[in-house]
Amino acid sequence: MLFDERPKTRREDLFNRDEELNQLLANLHRPLIVVSGVRRIGKTSLLLVALNESKLPFILVDARKLKDNYGWKDVYGLLSQALSSSLDKIVDVIRKVRGVSILGTSVELSWKGKRYVSLADLFDHLNQKRIVIAIDEAQRLRGPLSREIREAIAHAYDYDRNLTFILTGSEVGLLYDFVGVEDHDSPLYGRYFYELRLDRFSRESGVEFLRRGFKEAGKNVDEGMIQEIVNFFDGIPGWLTLAGNYVVAGKNIEEVKEMSLGVAVNEISNLVRSKRNVSEIVGRRYRHTLKCISEGNNSWSKLYECLTRREGSTLSSNSLSNILQQLEKMSIIHDYEFLDPVYREAVKRL
Ligand SMILES: Nc1ncnc2c1ncn2[C@@H]1O[C@H](COP(=O)(O)OP(=O)(O)OP(=O)(O)O)[C@@H](O)[C@H]1O
Ligand SMILES: [Mg+2]
Repeated sequence: MLFDERPKTRREDLFNRDEELNQLLANLHRPLIVVSGVRRIGKTSLLLVALNESKLPFILVDARKLKDNYGWKDVYGLLSQALSSSLDKIVDVIRKVRGVSILGTSVELSWKGKRYVSLADLFDHLNQKRIVIAIDEAQRLRGPLSREIREAIAHAYDYDRNLTFILTGSEVGLLYDFVGVEDHDSPLYGRYFYELRLDRFSRESGVEFLRRGFKEAGKNVDEGMIQEIVNFFDGIPGWLTLAGNYVVAGKNIEEVKEMSLGVAVNEISNLVRSKRNVSEIVGRRYRHTLKCISEGNNSWSKLYECLTRREGSTLSSNSLSNILQQLEKMSIIHDYEFLDPVYREAVKRL
C-alpha cells in the first residue's frame, strides 16, 4: 500500500525509487555507504527495501533514539536491540562471543567489566559471514563517543571485508560531520564511501503518487485537491503519505494542512527548545532567525537587519553565521530558504 504510513519494506510499495534502489543494491559490496536526505524523504524506506531485496542478513540500529549526551550503556542498548531483532540470522556468529549472552530471543551485551565486548571485537565476530550493519540517523552518534565509534567502524572498514556499513541521516551536514569527510583527525577521513542523496519527487511524480495511493485506497479524489496537496507539501513523500491518509479518513484540505502544520510546529519547537537548553539567548536567536527567514529575508543583509530589529540589539556577524551554518547542517534551510515548505509555514506560528 502506497499510503502505509510506516517505512516501506517491499519494492512494490516503494514509489518512484527504482533508480536509487538499484544503485544502492549495486553498491552493497562496499564497506561504507551513506544515504542522506531531508526528513520524510524516504531514507528508512529505501534502506529497508534494499536490505530485504538483498536477502543479506543485516542488523539495523536506530540511532534516532539516542539522547544528546548518550553513553556506552545507550549505544550497547541499541545494539543489543538490533542484534535481538536479527537473532535468527546471526546467532551462529555471536553465540560464543565473550561479553555476549543470548537469553531466549534477546541478546545481552556487556559494555564494561572483565567480560565485555568492544565494538571492534563485535564487528570482527560478525565478519564471519556477510552482514550489513545499518545505522539509521547516524548523525545522532556525534558527541562524546563519536571518536571511538568511528574508530571501530574504520577498523571494520579495513579488516572486516564481509561487513558493509550503511549510515543514513536527515541532518545531512551533521551526518557528514560525524563521518568526518573534511576532518583530518577523523578516523574515517580519506576513506571512500558511496553516497546516495535522496531528492523529493518531481511535481508530476507527486501527483502520480497521490493518484495511485487514492486509487488503492478506493477513494475518489478530485484533481483539484491532488494539485493543492502537491502545491502545499511539495514532493516530500512522507508529507504526501500523511496528507493522503488524512484525505482517505475524510478530512478536507484545510484540515489536512492544519494537522500537518501541527506536526511541523511540534518538531520545530523541539529544535528551538534544544537550543534554549544551551541558553535562553541562543534559543531566542534561533527562533528569530527562523522567523526572519520564513518572512522571506533571503540574503545576509536582509536577515541581519531583520534579526537586529527583532532582538532590539546589535549582533555579531559570527553569531548569525553560526546559527545559519547550524540550520544548514540540520537540513532545515539552504541559501536562506526552508527545505521543507511545511516548516516554513510552521515557523510563522512559533
Ligand atoms: N518512495 C516512497 N514510496 C512510498 N512511500 C514512501 C516513499 N518514501 C517515503 N514513503 C513514506 O513516507 C514516510 C516517510 O518515509 P521514511 O520514514 O522512509 O522517510 P525517512 O527519510 O526515513 O524519514 P525520517 O527522516 O523522518 O526518518 C513513510 O510513511 C513512508 O511509508
Ligand atoms: Mg527514517
